[in-house]
Amino acid sequence: MDTQNTVIMSPSLLSSDFSRLAGELESLEQAGVEWVHWDVMDGNFVPNITFGPPVISRCRKESSLFFDVHLMIDNPGRYIQEFVDAGADLICVHAESETHLERTVAEITRLGAHPAVALNPHTPLSVVEYLLPQLYMVLIMSVNPGFGGQSFIPFTIDKIKSLSQMIKATGSDTLIQVDGGVTPDNIAELRHAGADILVSGSAFFGHPPYDERLRTFLRAAG
Ligand code: DX5
Ligand code: ZN
Repeated sequence: MDTQNTVIMSPSLLSSDFSRLAGELESLEQAGVEWVHWDVMDGNFVPNITFGPPVISRCRKESSLFFDVHLMIDNPGRYIQEFVDAGADLICVHAESETHLERTVAEITRLGAHPAVALNPHTPLSVVEYLLPQLYMVLIMSVNPGFGGQSFIPFTIDKIKSLSQMIKATGSDTLIQVDGGVTPDNIAELRHAGADILVSGSAFFGHPPYDERLRTFLRAAG
């Protein structure tokens, strides 16, 4: 997928209707959405618990959307094969929960998915600097992960700008995703700072119909 110079919305299913996930995926696809964001939470790395490989695997049969899987779990390296088998197109692991980050990133690539690393708001960019050539995407968390509907943390704008400069300096083509508190009101600033892929949960699913909401975000992004 050519993502250069194009902003991509990845709606977070965390704010969707869990009782009808297949219907939600179909509605997103009909609305023109290309990526969908799966927030996997284990009740350890983050306080909340959501879903895992069986749910993703079942939904994979119902959807051809790009499955962007954000693992908020301890020791994610133990579960890469399961999430690839479930149908993840991209697997994003948190630097804070994986001691052997390089090995886990290599494993994701070896198994045929796009590798990504997420950083909590306070985690320095230096953690991913040496890995950039191996990474399809870096996810900058703009809230503390665990729940939808939280307020955007303003200092993360500077972090996005710094990451964008770091990516250019290292000559890699790693994409930047931003997740948490993204709305049509701040998407232009995020885009300007260097964000390529924007995740939105509450500000997307809370405002149907989805085709109009997608257009509102994309128009606001400029
Ligand atoms: C937060 C999750 C996000 C969340 C975003 O832990 O990683 O993906 O769903 O939700 P909003 O857009 O409501 O902040
Ligand atoms: Zn997420």
